[in-house]
Amino acid sequence: MIELRNVNKYFYKDENKEIHALNNINLTVKNGEFTLFSGASGCGKSTLLNAIGALDSIDSGEILLDGENITKLSESERTALRLNKMGFVFQAYNLVPVLTVEENIGFIMRLRGFSDSEIKKRVLEVASLLEIKNKLHSLPSTLSGGQQQRVAVARAVAAKPKIILADEPTANLDSKNSQILMDMMQTLNEKEGVTILFASHDELVMQSVNRVIKLEDGVLI
Ligand SMILES: Nc1ncnc2c1ncn2[C@@H]1O[C@H](COP(=O)(O)OP(=O)(O)O)[C@@H](O)[C@H]1O
Ligand SMILES: [Mg+2]
Repeated sequence: MIELRNVNKYFYKDENKEIHALNNINLTVKNGEFTLFSGASGCGKSTLLNAIGALDSIDSGEILLDGENITKLSESERTALRLNKMGFVFQAYNLVPVLTVEENIGFIMRLRGFSDSEIKKRVLEVASLLEIKNKLHSLPSTLSGGQQQRVAVARAVAAKPKIILADEPTANLDSKNSQILMDMMQTLNEKEGVTILFASHDELVMQSVNRVIKLEDGVLI
């Protein structure tokens, strides 16, 4: 489903310092995989995830999504691609503070034009899976960190994206809440068949996934 061919990405810190953040990456991810990009801080995990998620451009190579070359898309086409096919989970939960948990979970569905009744039904479904059903009418600030991250995952998965990209999702969680989150994401992966790609150097995440892809200084090893 996802194919990277000779992907290169450079950053320039100052005029004479070039960082080869992604160094000729070749990679295939199949539909339904539960995969981790691992490696030390600065090795290129986020850069890789952002490239696959069409959040950032690459300098050369191709990224194919269901056979479509996403590196050739315009900015507005990339926005549409992200909205329709991807779900994002970040280290900082990025919930909308003035919206209830229910409204946060339904947020992407609303942007995509699902009907009120479809949203209500689906929000209830994912909230049950992630065990936050009793929090639907609360504001995010009244929830624990672990619960807030589960709301973020619920929001990412609600509109049935093909891929969920999760960058260091457990970084702000204690080990108990990290384990709960990983178990629930694995259940989502199995029950809904959604492909999930993590970037993390958390040992616990490494133990929970089905495939580990290791990076070192931008090189896939
Ligand atoms: N916006 C940026 N500008 C300059 N350098 C960057 C930028 N983003 C990432 N880098 C550099 O690219 C390399 C890979 O970074 P990153 O993908 O964030 O690594 P990781 O997520 O594995 O910690 C690092 O050397 C980092 O300093
Ligand atoms: Mg990172």
